[in-house]
Amino acid sequence: MSSCGDVPVKSIVAARADRLPEDFLDGTLRHFEIMGYDIAVANVGGTFYGLDAACTYQWANLADGSVDKDRMVLICPSCKGGWDLKTGQPVDPPAKFPLTVYEVLASGDDLILTFTY
Ligand code: FES
Repeated sequence: MSSCGDVPVKSIVAARADRLPEDFLDGTLRHFEIMGYDIAVANVGGTFYGLDAACTYQWANLADGSVDKDRMVLICPSCKGGWDLKTGQPVDPPAKFPLTVYEVLASGDDLILTFTY
């Protein structure tokens, strides 16, 4: 574990690239559970974005949602609320509260998520 100022930072290997599901294609989402956190990871053109998988409006698993690649928005599978993939800010109602975002890097054979807490 390293730190960013006084804030601890931990980078975790979420998956090996060669073990990523074959259908984790451009424009799709996958669920990863890491250290008890449910994370939705979106693949947009080979760049990965990680956000909390629990909808902040009502309970829904956002990893079961969809990605609007043109707008870079994660869409809830239930009532279609939307959040910015890069910032986690709500952009489409009924989404009202932001989602935590996680840095996700594909590095060599690893897909690495970084937690700051
Ligand atoms: S449960 Fe997610 S927007 Fe309704």
